[in-house]
Amino acid sequence: MAVTTNLIEDNKMNERVSTVVNDIVDGVRAALIKNNVSFDEYRAGFMHLIGTAENHEIPLLVDMFFNQTICDIEMKNRKGTRSSVEGPYFMEGAPWVDEKANVCGDNVEPLLVRGVVTDTNNQPIPGVELDLWWANPEGKYSGYTDELPKEYFRCKVKTDDEGKYSVMASMPMEYPITTERHVHTGKLLEMLGRQGMRTKHLHQKYRKDGYCTLTTQAYFEGASYLDADPVEAVVDELVYRLSDENGVAVLQLETQLDAV
Ligand code: DHB
Ligand code: FE
Repeated sequence: MAVTTNLIEDNKMNERVSTVVNDIVDGVRAALIKNNVSFDEYRAGFMHLIGTAENHEIPLLVDMFFNQTICDIEMKNRKGTRSSVEGPYFMEGAPWVDEKANVCGDNVEPLLVRGVVTDTNNQPIPGVELDLWWANPEGKYSGYTDELPKEYFRCKVKTDDEGKYSVMASMPMEYPITTERHVHTGKLLEMLGRQGMRTKHLHQKYRKDGYCTLTTQAYFEGASYLDADPVEAVVDELVYRLSDENGVAVLQLETQLDAV
């Protein structure tokens, strides 16, 4: 059973919420006790969390630690392509495009994304709605400021009768979870002795009635930071080798959806 916000807003006792929240609280208490955490340390952590919230970094922080865990749980119950974190930057309402996504600004390098979507018996699935989104050359996602509206660097395409699609996108840039961009989350990563750059990645969300919605990412062979992902979402089967067609990088994706 899913924990839904309307159940929480219902203000009634809810077994599922109670079970999960009590286990989380028990886990945190066990860590505090095991490490003899002092009141000053507790308060320092508390204030760091307040700062994270004031800087609007809670989605980033929570997804960084826990989104991939949810994906791994998902894969215990389904077959097909592995899911990988949605992260904090998916947005509904990206523009439907035909062949070419909207991009803007300097240093945009084309990336031709071609793919085929099949079921777990390798039969093509037509009419799948696919959202693609990726970081622009400055390492930013669109839709969060007026300067970069959501019509850019994200799009929707539909698979054809053979389960195929093709769209000219652009090369994603690494995404920095660093103190320059995200003071609190970046600082925490530094204190954990971890680096904050997410390797280049292309987000995908596949939706069609009758199939499990799949949210995943493609990573690029040979890219920087592949082995040190701060959100621990890179797995070999999602790392693709790019090819070159007339000087344009081509990413060929093969995706399998499981039936519901
Ligand atoms: C996270 C995921 C991303 O894909 C990204 O670009 C930034 C952060 C995350 O899970 O926190
Ligand atoms: Fe991302």
